[in-house]
Amino acid sequence: MRLVVAMTGATGAPIGVRLLEVLGELGVETHLILSDWARATIKLETDRSVNDVRRLASHSYSARDLAAGISSGSFRTDGMVICPCSMKTLSAIRIGYSDNLITRAADVALKERRRLVLVAREAPLSAIHLENMLFLTRAGAVVFPPTVSYYARPASVEEMTDYLVGRVVDQLGIEHDLIKRWKDHTNHERHEPRSA
Ligand SMILES: Cc1cc2nc3c(=O)[nH]c(=O)nc-3n(C[C@H](O)[C@H](O)[C@H](O)COP(=O)(O)O)c2cc1C
Repeated sequence: MRLVVAMTGATGAPIGVRLLEVLGELGVETHLILSDWARATIKLETDRSVNDVRRLASHSYSARDLAAGISSGSFRTDGMVICPCSMKTLSAIRIGYSDNLITRAADVALKERRRLVLVAREAPLSAIHLENMLFLTRAGAVVFPPTVSYYARPASVEEMTDYLVGRVVDQLGIEHDLIKRWKDHTNHERHEPRSA
């Protein structure tokens, strides 16, 4: 499997870093693009250098390199994930404003009908954010806000991040056993199939 992975300047750089680690462990070929503000949040929010993060990917690109292969629909990929995705990048994708490699690759994913997962982070959300998200959802993208699932009983920020990353990987259609899945044992009985 081959995926484009982008990180932008919304808070949540540790989620993007963990996603890259996990995709690497799962044998996914990753093509990474970092926005200028992702570089800033990596420095602010993690103990990694930007180069360390780049090295987690199979290939990495400057967001300014609009001549990169992933800028073209003829470069075959299985989709794209932007994690985290800022409201600025989300709004550019919504209107097809492809002035950097991240928004261009997202535009390509949509036009080629490939999977596009936006781990869109902002709180609270304005009517502009919500409208942009609704439009993109109708256009075929998956908008996946990085929210906490308390039923998973996370004991640390790392566990919370791992659960989130597991659910993002679900959206990419990749099999994995990173997370304990919810099982409701309380309100139903299990019946053996009847023999004919
Ligand atoms: C520490 C920090 C946290 C930020 N968090 C968010 C956020 O959660 N969501 C968001 O939409 N923008 C956030 N921003 C603002 C974006 O970085 C800014 O809009 C930037 O232009 C996004 O550009 P990019 O999408 O090209 O990375 C944050 C900025 C900083 C410095």
